[in-house]
Amino acid sequence: CGIVGVLGSHEVAPLILESLKRLEYRGYDSAGIATVNAGVLDRRRAVGKLVNLSDLLVHDSLAGKAGIGHTRWATHGEPNVGNAHPHRSGPVSVVHNGIIENFRILREELAAAGLAHETDTDTETVALLTRHLLDQGMTPQEAVGATLKRLEGAFALAFLFEGHDDLMIGARKGSPLAVGHGTGEMYLGSDAIALAPMTDLVTYLEEGDWVVLTRAGATFYDMAGNRVNRSVTRIQLEQTRIDKAGHKHFMAKEIAEQPAVLGAVTAFHLAPDGTDLAFPPEVDFSTCDRVTMVACGTGHYATQVAKYWFEQIAGLPCDIDIASEFRYRQPVLSDKGIGIFVSQSGETADTLAALRHVEGKLSRTIGVVNVPTSSIARETDVALPILAGPEISVASTKGFTAQLLVLLLMALKAAQDRGRLDAAQLAAKLADIKVLPGLLAQALDREDDIKTLAAKIAESQHALFLGRGVMFPLALEAALKLKELSYIHAEGYASGELKHGPIALIDKTMPVIVLAPRDALYDKTVSNMQEVMARQGLVVLISDRAGLEEAGKVWAQLAMPTVPELIAPIVYAVPAQLLAYHTALARGTDVDQPRNLAKSVTVE
Ligand code: G6P
Repeated sequence: CGIVGVLGSHEVAPLILESLKRLEYRGYDSAGIATVNAGVLDRRRAVGKLVNLSDLLVHDSLAGKAGIGHTRWATHGEPNVGNAHPHRSGPVSVVHNGIIENFRILREELAAAGLAHETDTDTETVALLTRHLLDQGMTPQEAVGATLKRLEGAFALAFLFEGHDDLMIGARKGSPLAVGHGTGEMYLGSDAIALAPMTDLVTYLEEGDWVVLTRAGATFYDMAGNRVNRSVTRIQLEQTRIDKAGHKHFMAKEIAEQPAVLGAVTAFHLAPDGTDLAFPPEVDFSTCDRVTMVACGTGHYATQVAKYWFEQIAGLPCDIDIASEFRYRQPVLSDKGIGIFVSQSGETADTLAALRHVEGKLSRTIGVVNVPTSSIARETDVALPILAGPEISVASTKGFTAQLLVLLLMALKAAQDRGRLDAAQLAAKLADIKVLPGLLAQALDREDDIKTLAAKIAESQHALFLGRGVMFPLALEAALKLKELSYIHAEGYASGELKHGPIALIDKTMPVIVLAPRDALYDKTVSNMQEVMARQGLVVLISDRAGLEEAGKVWAQLAMPTVPELIAPIVYAVPAQLLAYHTALARGTDVDQPRNLAKSVTVE
């Protein structure tokens, strides 16, 4: 969910709408705004995309120079108007990101005190509790302070109060929240992107902090209620610029940006003369005995590819985990081990919880993040940027390939630290990496052919993706992209695993997309392809010229440039992304904001 708050000098509803538009990637099930106008609290809420709320405001405007807004990704309660934020109880209005884990107990307590809930949400409990404390004679500030002490779980909150045109209170525990400083105005926002239209002066709340805002400034408190100082930083507006740059969708723009992004990543993580790796001193694997990588979603598939690299190139044992499983499976950790936490947003609650779980149990933690001010960037011992720039499309594209490249360069560093890569070997690998932008551009040039292929896939109900070795995780990522964008049921399998079960699904309606450059494992993959064709499955082979020639006749094919084995999964990500994109276009689904998803999931 996304949060915005403004104590302004003009009408705030249009400003809040503008900010919410920039936060819509965090959820789009419903949206709402509350304002205080001459002491009177009022709100407007609408189900679905933000456009529904702006339409509503055209007919039913909302006056006031102080307001809070919210865009929701539903957790408790279906996305209807009643469950939409801001929630209100009497003189208190609140917006919330996260989950209040003890809301049932609080609900019962409040019901016993005669305060009944009207919605299914955990957020209404916060409004009711604060109201209850106000009823007992507390000031808004005291009531929020006392409310926060009772709340368990992860949350970011913004409060507004009837009768108080110059007061807004924000709190952060587990979910990000930042204060924006204006001239005679103050703001709250889930991230710098939300605040960018209003100010570039930002204070990030620390874990457990809460803040009392008036137009004159901000007073910060820590978890224990002590006044604390928090510094103001100037955000780089470049990092917050979001536009489609002439593309139809953010996803199309972000796919097209990959050659430039990967060029920048290479330049950043290499020494100026380009002949050696350049990492901060903490990125040192010489005494490391095990790498543990944790991530969610697309980031997890990036780590799954990286496991092959760390083990094959650096000879370093490597565990990979989905963050939501890691913490609860009691992983055996080594105090000489290094933890690598991969997260585009740097705010994913599962990954953050996993990071906190390893505290003191590993020799060090490394973040691989796109947002340098994010929680994961701040809480890891060292954070390596993936330099992808804002990624707005919910489905990750440039974030994925940039994560892969940073992880590959780190695997080379590990190999170097462990004496497994001399200067000549490193030079050879870096030469392969330096051709990446050019090869990505060539892969992007295949877009017309991919569009033709997508028109065929768009008619299917199901699809399988196959890959071997480093192409196996890529098959998983390709299937994820297709299912999240087009809603076609898709699965990825290791090519060799097909015969152990999934082959039962093969018939003449099943497209099987095989990601197979002509590499050392190619012949084995061709055998698996034959098994599919023998059962009338529709094989789509994505390979280079040599591979396509060797395979013979298939249902459909896509010719890729010939690619060094080391970087093949990065280059082959492009056709996987474009296939999902064009299939979604052919089916008319919402490319940038697929149903039920959010880009940054800040609940566990
Ligand atoms: C969400 C997004 C995915 C993303 C995952 C992890 O589920 O929809 O696209 O891969 O979160 O996000 P992170 O920001 O931690 O990389």
